[in-house]
Amino acid sequence: MNDSTANPFMPHLMRIAESRDETLDVRTLRLEFIDPEAASEMEWQAGQFGQFSIFGTGECVFTITNPPNRGDHIECTFRDVGKATNALRSRSVGQTVGFRGPYGNWFDMEGWQGKDILFVGGGIGMAALHAPLQFVLDHRDDYGEILVLNGARTVADIVYGDEMNEWQEMDRVKVVQTVDPGGETSEWTGEVGLIPNVFEQLDPKPNGNIVVTCGPPIMIHFMMITLDKLGFPPEQVITTLENKMKCGIGHCGRCNVGRLLVCRDGPVVTAAQLKDLPAEL
Ligand SMILES: Cc1cc2nc3c(=O)[nH]c(=O)nc-3n(C[C@H](O)[C@H](O)[C@H](O)COP(=O)(O)OP(=O)(O)OC[C@H]3O[C@@H](n4cnc5c(N)ncnc54)[C@H](O)[C@@H]3O)c2cc1C
Ligand code: FES
Repeated sequence: MNDSTANPFMPHLMRIAESRDETLDVRTLRLEFIDPEAASEMEWQAGQFGQFSIFGTGECVFTITNPPNRGDHIECTFRDVGKATNALRSRSVGQTVGFRGPYGNWFDMEGWQGKDILFVGGGIGMAALHAPLQFVLDHRDDYGEILVLNGARTVADIVYGDEMNEWQEMDRVKVVQTVDPGGETSEWTGEVGLIPNVFEQLDPKPNGNIVVTCGPPIMIHFMMITLDKLGFPPEQVITTLENKMKCGIGHCGRCNVGRLLVCRDGPVVTAAQLKDLPAEL
């Protein structure tokens, strides 16, 4: 039995069961609990994150990308940006890594019922949208129209490309893909343009719907300006925060932004909350 209840820093041991390359530097992993009891006890909500440990190297924080209704395992999608993510990328199917969590708050999936939902993701930011989007698609009758707007720097940087092709075949789901100018190929049939501009061209109306957006800080910055201009009330706009973390459980103070600890009070925030935070985010 895993004694993670006694020591909050003790990770669960996880076997890498599947590995899929999304792009040259982004990979999705399926991790299965080695202890079946830990698997059956695991509960989480869409939007929560975990600390993933690569033994001998360190830990890194990723969103849990599968929704809770999808299995007794954990999935994550990560970009290789540094020490721990590089070490994780060198691990193969069958090898063991650590996981502690789930941590943080989550998306209000119940409160969104009956509403249209606009998912707007840029780059690896799509990872944070994957669990709530999959949840909505798995409970299709409970939600209204779904828009997925996904942007990437180039065609080669698109994550979840195959899944997006499946999503756009689903009932009342519209998928729009865009790449930055210069990032298109001769075969590209999607949009070319920055995400906030493409969003505006779609002429969305703030009719009580929910906008969930995640991506690089510069994209979030301009999405917030665009949403404001289009009249979306900040309470209807949801995003997730990123910050350096160590403990992940509100002990060390490493992740503070103003009076807020991202690991405890986030990562999910409304645009209304974002307006009250210091300008660096
Ligand atoms: C709540 C939350 C959810 C996240 N979800 C995902 C996810 O689903 N997929 C994913 O790929 N990444 C995600 N991240 C970012 C991820 O945690 C970092 O990219 C990772 O920890 C980098 O580890 P490293 O040791 O490889 O990088 P390092 O060697 O430590 O650093 C490499 C570079 O990345 C920067 N960096 C490191 N950590 C962070 C961070 N937390 N935020 C911003 N920049 C950072 C460093 O400043 C440096 O420039 C998330 C972060 C948070 C806080
Ligand atoms: S990471 Fe330690 S308080 Fe948030």
